[in-house]
Amino acid sequence: MQIEVDARRLAAELDQLASFSTSDPPSVTRIVFSDVDLRARRWLKELCCSAGLVVREDPVGNMIARWNAGDHDAPAVGTGSHIDAIPNAGRFDGTVGVLGGLEAIRALKASGFAPKRPIELLVFTAEEPTRFGIGCLGSRLLSGALDAEKAGQLRDQAGSTLDEVRKAAGFHGSLSNVRLTTNRHAAFIELHIEQGPILEQSRHQIGLVTSIAAPAALRVVIHGQGGHAGAVLMPNRHDALTGAAEIILAVERLAGASGALDTVATTGLCDVFPSAVNSIPSRVSLGIDIRDINLSRRDLLVEEIRKAIEGVSRKRALQCITEILNADDPAQCDRRILDVLRRCCEDEGVTHMELVSRAYHDSLFMSRIAPVAMVFIPCRAGVSHRADEFASLPDIANGVRVLARALAQLAS
Ligand code: GLV
Ligand code: MN
Ligand code: MN
Repeated sequence: MQIEVDARRLAAELDQLASFSTSDPPSVTRIVFSDVDLRARRWLKELCCSAGLVVREDPVGNMIARWNAGDHDAPAVGTGSHIDAIPNAGRFDGTVGVLGGLEAIRALKASGFAPKRPIELLVFTAEEPTRFGIGCLGSRLLSGALDAEKAGQLRDQAGSTLDEVRKAAGFHGSLSNVRLTTNRHAAFIELHIEQGPILEQSRHQIGLVTSIAAPAALRVVIHGQGGHAGAVLMPNRHDALTGAAEIILAVERLAGASGALDTVATTGLCDVFPSAVNSIPSRVSLGIDIRDINLSRRDLLVEEIRKAIEGVSRKRALQCITEILNADDPAQCDRRILDVLRRCCEDEGVTHMELVSRAYHDSLFMSRIAPVAMVFIPCRAGVSHRADEFASLPDIANGVRVLARALAQLAS
């Protein structure tokens, strides 16, 4: 089968999607249910409808665009990713899997291919944890990994609940209706930039993901004693920020001491109150991200970090409240889909290798209700979650062709 991908159209659509942003180019910021996110969703929905797909949006705003072909009752073959972007992100994370997935479906339609089962493009809500503190919100709910009632009560920084925000954005109905049954998808494949340097360094065009690392996230609120920066003497201080500094260093040290390069931990959030140069910080909130391929090593590190936090709070007479926001299992990709993908790479004449995903993806949760696999394409210098994130058009087009072939085989 000849797959004709319209790379120019795809490039123009990636450009257009990047323009829905609240930060200056080349960076992209698209927080879930912000005005730019809602405008991007409307634009994307029109693209899907123009491609002849039937679009449904669920109560949390996951968009499911369906090529209703073949046996309509048969489990569908799915693809897709996310379009939300963290503050000052690049323009390829997630979007390549969404617009590339759409292009793959359009290419299959143009080729005259007749699927025996439906093919769906899934656009997941809030893969990024920016607004509600927990990543993969949409796919967690689709897979039943997150309790619907708890999800609705998650709050953003302004204090609004997910229920309030999604309803204001036009997504109504009970979150318990988001969950999909386990036989709804025969297979799911997510196309994504690698977000690491391995493909580029080893000169491979395609990465076939065998497993996805286990992520966890902690929120730590440190309560100290505020006061006048001039008047409170050093021996009398209970500075929440200097306590936080010790915790941040402990996170880095403990991750580095795990004995495995697969262990990573990051303190990416630090909110200081009252945040005035002449006021001793009385309260600090930290966001800590902890990951490993190996679940027991990840869990051990979470425990060590908790102990370090307790140690700092005792030593400095601070009060620290630690909350585990999520602690997820790793996911294994499906061998049968990986075999299909390998053959598709060979048919397309592109080089491929197996690797693990250290980033998390909606596939982590889709794997709970369907056999999944991921296709990675190289990104320049492995850079991601930065404005200078870059993937070349030929690399993106390779990924789309391999994806299209695999969707066709799985839907035959
Ligand atoms: C996804 O964006 C991740 O943080 O891995
Ligand atoms: Mn991301
Ligand atoms: Mn992503």
